[in-house]
Amino acid sequence: MKIYCGDNYEAMGRIAGNIIAAQVILKPDCVLGLATGSTPLSTYKTLVEKYENGDLDFSKVTSVNLDEYKGLSGDNDQSYRYFMNTNLFNHINIDKSRTFVPNGLEPDSEKACKEYDAVVASVGGVDIQLLGIGHNGHIAFNEPAPFFSKGTQCVDLTQSTIDANKRFFEKEEDVPRQAYTMGIGTIMSAKKILLIAAGEEKADIMAKAFAGPITPEVPASVLQLHPDVTVVGDKAALSKLLELV
Ligand code: F6R
Repeated sequence: MKIYCGDNYEAMGRIAGNIIAAQVILKPDCVLGLATGSTPLSTYKTLVEKYENGDLDFSKVTSVNLDEYKGLSGDNDQSYRYFMNTNLFNHINIDKSRTFVPNGLEPDSEKACKEYDAVVASVGGVDIQLLGIGHNGHIAFNEPAPFFSKGTQCVDLTQSTIDANKRFFEKEEDVPRQAYTMGIGTIMSAKKILLIAAGEEKADIMAKAFAGPITPEVPASVLQLHPDVTVVGDKAALSKLLELV
């Protein structure tokens, strides 16, 4: 595992953005696994700046996103499709028909999950998977559980995740209670993992996930078993982990 520490949130985003940019330059038709949330915003900003400077071409890139709230359409400004369009896809020359997000409007969970597994299989494997981390160690929406999930799942969000995400909604009741998420097995099959974390409130979970026991109760801990993991954080998020490794 490689760990890079940026002085602050913006610096973290520049490091992570440069790593993704290198992937796009080295393999212009690569498959990017993408994430939403607050953490990747500075990473996406870096990618947009590089595109605007003429340093990056996304025309042959395919992307698959980790997750989507069940019940939200792509036009809903809280949906992850909307987030991706607004924060990245609308600002670069990616072919939107090659950007995939689980279908939040499919009410039949089994069908939605099967379809997304088929999408992920059809793109031929993820070259680099960007991940954030939840306060409880979740990756994508794979919450602490007695076992590691395999493929796409429909999950009930935990209260800790609802609490963490309610800041984006008008009121807590508006936060969807379920989401479609790529499974841990699929995440682990990406060729490279790039996990980003920012802020003091992630310091404890970063230490647990990368220097503690591997357990499905801390889903991100499974990444210790992946052969090519890069962790990029700001000083605050890495403060405890860097004391242990
Ligand atoms: C988002 C996702 C989540 C977030 C995690 C951290 O697509 O899969 O696992 O990465 O909840 O969220 P932030 O970055 O908002 O702290």
